[in-house]
Amino acid sequence: MSHFLVAGGAGYIGSNFIKYLMDTSDHEVTLLDNLSTGRSEVVESLKGRYGSRIVFLKSDLGDPEKLHPYLHKRAVDGVFHFGAFSLVGESQYDPMKYYYNNVARTLSLLKIILEHEIRHFVFSSSAAVYGIPEKTPITEEAERKPINHYGKTKAMIEEVMEALSGREDLVYASLRYFNVAGTDEEMLVGECHDPETHLIPIAVKTALGLRDHLALFGTDYPTPDGTAVRDYIHVTDLCRAHWAAFEKIRKENEPLTVNLGSARGYSVREVLETVQRVTGSRFRILEEGRRPGDPPVLIASSEKAGKELGWKAERSLEEMVTSAWDWEKKRSEDGLL
Ligand SMILES: NC(=O)c1ccc[n+]([C@@H]2O[C@H](COP(=O)([O-])OP(=O)(O)OC[C@H]3O[C@@H](n4cnc5c(N)ncnc54)[C@H](O)[C@@H]3O)[C@@H](O)[C@H]2O)c1
Repeated sequence: MSHFLVAGGAGYIGSNFIKYLMDTSDHEVTLLDNLSTGRSEVVESLKGRYGSRIVFLKSDLGDPEKLHPYLHKRAVDGVFHFGAFSLVGESQYDPMKYYYNNVARTLSLLKIILEHEIRHFVFSSSAAVYGIPEKTPITEEAERKPINHYGKTKAMIEEVMEALSGREDLVYASLRYFNVAGTDEEMLVGECHDPETHLIPIAVKTALGLRDHLALFGTDYPTPDGTAVRDYIHVTDLCRAHWAAFEKIRKENEPLTVNLGSARGYSVREVLETVQRVTGSRFRILEEGRRPGDPPVLIASSEKAGKELGWKAERSLEEMVTSAWDWEKKRSEDGLL
C-alpha cells in the first residue's frame, strides 16, 4: 500500500482520479486543495465513501508553511498534480492569476516535494501546449507553441520539469489531455465547473433547460460539416492512464510526455446530435461566427500512449454524453443546479 499526494483533488478530474484509485487499489491519498474552484461536497462524498483512506489537507498547493510540517510526518510515494486554473478566456485578461497559480505555485510544490525526496510526479498538462498545430493527428514531437496564457503556463511547467529531471532527480510524467468529458458510472463525483466552458456539459445543461440555447461557434471550417473537430476522452479512461503513467515512471525512473486523447475526432455538430439523441431534447442551437484562436481540427495521436503505457481510450462519445447527462440530472434532482 502506498500513500499519494493528490493536488487539486477536489476538482473534476482530480476527484475522479481519487475515486478510480480507491476502487482499483488499496492505496491511500492526501487530497490537497484550497477549494478555489473545487468543492467541499466532493471532499465529503469521497471521505464518506472511503473514510480514513483519504486525508483532506486544505491548503494552497505551494504553501511551504503547511506542506513542510505535513510531509515531515507523512511519507508520500508520489504526487499527482491536477491543481490549476484552466479558463482560457480568463487567462487572456488576467494573466497574473494564471502565471501565479499555475506556474509559481507549481514551482513551489516541486521545490517542497523534492526537499522531502518525493521524486515521482504526474502532471496535468494540456493539448493547449501545441497551440495551432501544423499537422494532425498531433504527435508529442510537435513543437510547443501555445497561443494563450493558460497553454503557456502548462508549457512553462513542462520546461521546468525537463530542466529538473536531469539535475534534481525529478521523475515526471507530463500528460497532455485533450477534451475530457463524462464522469464515473456511480456518479459519486463529477464535472462542476463554474463558469462551464466545455461543450458537453454546456449542451447537457441546455438539454435540461438550464440554458435558453447553445451557441455554436463557426460553421465554415474546412471540415466535413463545417464545424470544428475535437478529440474527446472519457475521464475514467484518463484516470486509468494516470495510473499506468505513474507505474511506468516508478519502474523505469525515466521522464515521460504523452498525449491523452482518443485519437478520434468528433465535430461540434456530431457532439450536439449525440447529446440531443441521448437526452431526447431538441434544444435551440444558435450559429455564430468562429472564435479567434480556435483551430479547425485538434486530434491526438495516441500511438505513444499505446506503446509506452499499453493504454488506449475505450469509452465512446455516447458513453461520455450519457454519463454527463446522468450526472447533471442527478444534480438537478438533488437541487444542486
Ligand atoms: N477539464 C479538461 O478538459 C482539461 C483538459 C486539459 C487539461 N486539464 C487540466 O487538468 C487539471 C484538472 O482540471 P479540472 O477540469 O479538474 O479543473 P477543476 O477546476 O475542476 O479542478 C482544479 C482543482 O485544483 C484546485 N486548485 C487550483 N489551484 C490550486 C492551488 N493553488 N492550491 C490548491 N488547490 C488548487 C481547485 O480548487 C480545484 O479543486 C488542470 O490542471 C487542468 O488545467 C483539464
